[in-house]
Amino acid sequence: MSDEHTIELTVNGVARTLTVPPNLALLDALRDRCGLTGAKECCAVGECGACTVSVDGRIVNSCLMLAVEADGAEVTTVEGLSTNGELSPLQQAFLDRGAVQCGFCIPGMVMSAQAVLDRNPRPSTEEVREGLSGNLCRCAGYNRMFEAMLATEGPGEGEAIGHRAHAPATDAAAGAQEDAVAHGPAEVSA
Ligand code: FES
Ligand code: FES
Repeated sequence: MSDEHTIELTVNGVARTLTVPPNLALLDALRDRCGLTGAKECCAVGECGACTVSVDGRIVNSCLMLAVEADGAEVTTVEGLSTNGELSPLQQAFLDRGAVQCGFCIPGMVMSAQAVLDRNPRPSTEEVREGLSGNLCRCAGYNRMFEAMLATEGPGEGEAIGHRAHAPATDAAAGAQEDAVAHGPAEVSA
């Protein structure tokens, strides 16, 4: 007798029906069943935030949530932030400010950052820091991430922190960074 469960959820606006074992993490369901590999598994114990996604508007560590708990939920992953291949303003700000190094943390960072901006379109620096406090970057590129978030404020605010051009050194580097903010980087060993 199978103990698998059939769940129905909406992922990035697309209705999905999945048959999953009761112990399958939402992260694995998204990556392995839905083909959405933006969210990353790094620590798998809720410490790093690399697996951050939105469930019914609430930011969660998807490595700690069971897929069956997302039955009926609206889930958004980093892939769901872009529209027809066009980066969201926040994703573009990360790219423009060179806030991406290896890219492994970026999908989770962007999801947490977007949640802050959704709550308050003009967050303070403290709110920005607090909002990203659950996301770890082993490349330690936090300042540029904070800049990117603040630059996504209303018109004119970006000037206040300066429009610094941190252009990637090569076209290949630019392409890799764009992929990282849109989908997460190519898989790398953690
Ligand atoms: S992989 Fe989920 S918090 Fe680290
Ligand atoms: S950019 Fe490398 S871990 Fe954050």
